[in-house]
Amino acid sequence: MSTAATTVFNPDCRSCPRLASFLDQTGEKHPEYHARPVAPFGDPAARLLIVGLAPGMHGANATGRPFTGDYAGILLYETLYEFGLSNKPVSISTSDGLELTNCRITNAVKCLPPQNKPQLEEIKECNGYLRTELDLLPEQSVIIALGKIAHDAVLRAYGLRLSAWPFGHANIHPIRAGKVLVDSYHCSRYNTQTRRLTPAMFKAIFRIACEHLGHRA
Ligand code: URA
Repeated sequence: MSTAATTVFNPDCRSCPRLASFLDQTGEKHPEYHARPVAPFGDPAARLLIVGLAPGMHGANATGRPFTGDYAGILLYETLYEFGLSNKPVSISTSDGLELTNCRITNAVKCLPPQNKPQLEEIKECNGYLRTELDLLPEQSVIIALGKIAHDAVLRAYGLRLSAWPFGHANIHPIRAGKVLVDSYHCSRYNTQTRRLTPAMFKAIFRIACEHLGHRA
């Protein structure tokens, strides 16, 4: 059981007052930006769900597609292509023709948070959307959590105790029959530039996921 109600993604959601007003300010400053909740992107029948943190100011918040337009998306989209999960190695905009196969990308929080830091109440408020996305996954599926906030959001959506499944890079959690949660450090600019997360480490995560899915790159 989830602590949040199951909810279908609402592109006009304004449930979190702080985030809604930050989006309003951002939209006024950058009228060309999406500046609204960012919908999940990818194959609706996917057996691999990748969960990020939240839209970045000049990335997903600008383009309207998760991990698109900012540094965090570079390694992610390159890796998806390398593993045969997409038709292009880069994600530029919602009209670039990029398609994901057997893979979908979403965020724990759908709106841009100030300083990239959603508050716990906001993560909880948004958790119903994630719960719905997890419910859509077929029986045999893999979820990759990018960072601890995404990891915790997945556990919360499943109503699981956070202490029972500790976050750690490359930790593999068989959280449900047929459902495996695989943790990765977030592919942020900070983590990749400091080499806390190297491309080899990131690819190893996708190798684990693809092995569970029986998917060949
Ligand atoms: N862009 C996203 O959509 N999510 C993240 O977690 C980081 C950047």
